[in-house]
Amino acid sequence: ALSADTSGPLAGLRILVSAGGTREPIDPVRFIGNRSSGRQGVAVAAAAAARGAKVVLLSANIDDSVLAEVADNPAVRVVPVGTAAELESAAHAGSAGAEVVIMAAAVSDYRVAGVSEEKIRKEDSDGPPTLTLLENPDILAGLVRDRRPGQVLVGFAAETAADEVELMERGRRKLARKGVDLLAVNSVGWSEGFESSDNTLHIIEASGALVERISGTKQQTADALLDAVAAVLR
Ligand code: CTP
Ligand code: CA
Repeated sequence: ALSADTSGPLAGLRILVSAGGTREPIDPVRFIGNRSSGRQGVAVAAAAAARGAKVVLLSANIDDSVLAEVADNPAVRVVPVGTAAELESAAHAGSAGAEVVIMAAAVSDYRVAGVSEEKIRKEDSDGPPTLTLLENPDILAGLVRDRRPGQVLVGFAAETAADEVELMERGRRKLARKGVDLLAVNSVGWSEGFESSDNTLHIIEASGALVERISGTKQQTADALLDAVAAVLR
């Protein structure tokens, strides 16, 4: 096994990482979810541990095969969460003791109002049901509001965009809206960004400047993001 770095800028820091995608129940057997595998966030957790950080990984519905990358790492504590509400309370609890927070999880923007206690059955219904959705709280915005002095907060944004210019524009607007120190913008589409092990990240800093555009494996992009975090900490 690789031994952790004990002298770099992240050594000894406590880093909270969320990864995966939340699931919002419709009834006991169904949910609203998204295509996030958790690979990028798990790669960030593994890379942070390799740099000597103590990592808490809030794992939203990540497959064991993906979590295997950190499962035996004593520097990574995995905390499973399911819904956005569960992620929110775990994130606030974890953020209080972290110098760096990286929100890589895909959080469902909406949850279902009036979750059915029983399975919804066609037999009992009169045609297709209508789901009423409620907006979930913006967890990252809440963490920014409650930030501890000097704490570094990082967001992720998966965007569909026609070109790089639109991608950067959307990224800059989102970064400003969220008030984070760094935003990692990921271009996604039907066949881009999710299942693949490779990824392209545009890392934007608080000024709106592009820190780096990095294409590579999720390990390489995780390392580039941690370099950017280290630069903000300095
Ligand atoms: N996020 C969050 N809580 C939410 C939604 C998003 O903490 N309810 C975080 C994500 O973990 C991510 C960042 O905010 O780090 C950006 O997520 P994104 O879905 O791109 O932003 P939204 O504000 O939800 O905007 P959009 O309408 O584009 O989905
Ligand atoms: Ca969203």
